[in-house]
Amino acid sequence: MDQQNVRVHYGDGAAGEAPKLYRLIGEGKDSGLELPVLQATMGPDAIDVRQVLAKTHYCTFDPAFTSTASCRSKITYVDGDQGILLYRGYPIEDLAERSSFLEVCHLLLFGELPAADELTQFQHDITYHTMVHEQIQRFYSGFPHSAHPMAILLGVVGALSAFYPDSTDVFDPQQRLISIHRLIAKVPTLAAMAHKYSLGQPFVYPRNDLDYSANFVNMMFAVPAEPYPIKAVFAKAINALLIVQADHEQNASTSTVRIVGSSRANPFACVAAGISSLWGPIHGGANEAAVSMLKEIGTKANIPDVIRRAKDKNDPFRLMGFGHRIYKSYDPRAKVMRKICNEVLTEVGLAHDPLFELALELEKIALEDDYFVERKLYPNVDFYSGLIMRALGIPLKMFTALFAIARTPGWLAQWKEMIEDPDQRISRPRQLYVGPVRRSFVALNERKSESASARDNPSKPMPGEAMIVGS
Ligand code: CMC
Repeated sequence: MDQQNVRVHYGDGAAGEAPKLYRLIGEGKDSGLELPVLQATMGPDAIDVRQVLAKTHYCTFDPAFTSTASCRSKITYVDGDQGILLYRGYPIEDLAERSSFLEVCHLLLFGELPAADELTQFQHDITYHTMVHEQIQRFYSGFPHSAHPMAILLGVVGALSAFYPDSTDVFDPQQRLISIHRLIAKVPTLAAMAHKYSLGQPFVYPRNDLDYSANFVNMMFAVPAEPYPIKAVFAKAINALLIVQADHEQNASTSTVRIVGSSRANPFACVAAGISSLWGPIHGGANEAAVSMLKEIGTKANIPDVIRRAKDKNDPFRLMGFGHRIYKSYDPRAKVMRKICNEVLTEVGLAHDPLFELALELEKIALEDDYFVERKLYPNVDFYSGLIMRALGIPLKMFTALFAIARTPGWLAQWKEMIEDPDQRISRPRQLYVGPVRRSFVALNERKSESASARDNPSKPMPGEAMIVGS
């Protein structure tokens, strides 16, 4: 088949009905291959291309998976055009306003908001797993005090698998559940320990009389020398922050968790991989990068220069906290965060915080600029979450660690769904190979340095490099 002639044709749907399948046409004639349409309850249906390689000897090509559904999922729905985010059907705005993080964890993991007795049991299951083995403290002393909390977190979370060999059999539902409880319970303890270690302060043990968010605030800020009164607004803000970041369907870190888990790796290893992916500055690391950027901008007078740089294709600078692969309208999480940011700043007496005012001005100018309007670039969750954390006294380097605490139940819900999915197989994408074709080995004394110069100049083809058909 001529590659340029491969087309997907609509077909077989009776008039007025949704199409049931597509036929693949190649070389101007019908290949006979019928591609079933898999129906979604919301959002785009999917053309099932699993038979394409076997039947046509062609792969589908979709780097960064912009058009590919990698799984079926019932957990989270995002409508990027409308700015809608639902967990198991519930709008994020309602959940952030009216529920606790643990209710949301239950919802993500088991599909329903818990009834009162279920919530009591779930709270108990999490609360009684918050402590970590004393020996884990010794990992911390191996790190420099300046270590980034994410570097520590991804190491110690992976290391948990060494402490719980009794719960790493991914095919045992009971072991899966206990690992889930352990991870949701212990990741905040480990993150707060990373913060305390950077300060040289003693670790603060979890407290079972506090709820999930208040316990985290206490482990971050209390010291043994005196009582630490937890401000309700702090715990409320952390609760909302955790909820809005708890899941976001098949984003980079969640896909990482699913891919790692597809090899049957244990959940501690999977979550450590998710933390690694989240750390990147254009994923979860963007909250840290957004506040650093605002600090660098410094004053409103510098905004026009920053906007100019963000639009300059020769400058790698981007407005951090702006843009999203899926949202082509205002990120609903950013809306929730913007409101909470206002409340927190007012409560801590920073209603006129210069950085917040700078952020509002930057948002206003960017949203009026043709470049951002045409590309539908809006503030994302990280634009305001960083400002909230800063107002709560959480240091910049801890921002992404908080995102990791929030995303842990999402990763685990997706991991659990994947393990329980009968269609699940080890993830193994194909590739479009464009390297050298087969060639004869050249003895060392016969090699010329020409190939080294070709490597340095990528526009020049490497010896033996394949021509790309049709290019
Ligand atoms: N500043 C300036 N230009 C931008 C930005 C930005 N923040 N984001 C996208 N663009 C431009 C980009 O240059 C491109 O322009 P053109 O069409 O002229 O080449 C166009 O908008 C589309 O961008 P893209 O890179 O193709 O979009 P993507 O879907 O691959 O990337 C993104 C999405 C989030 C990585 C990107 O918008 C970005 O780097 N944003 C800044 C980092 C950030 O805030 N990340 C947090 C994402 S939300 C938290 C999470 O869930 O991880």
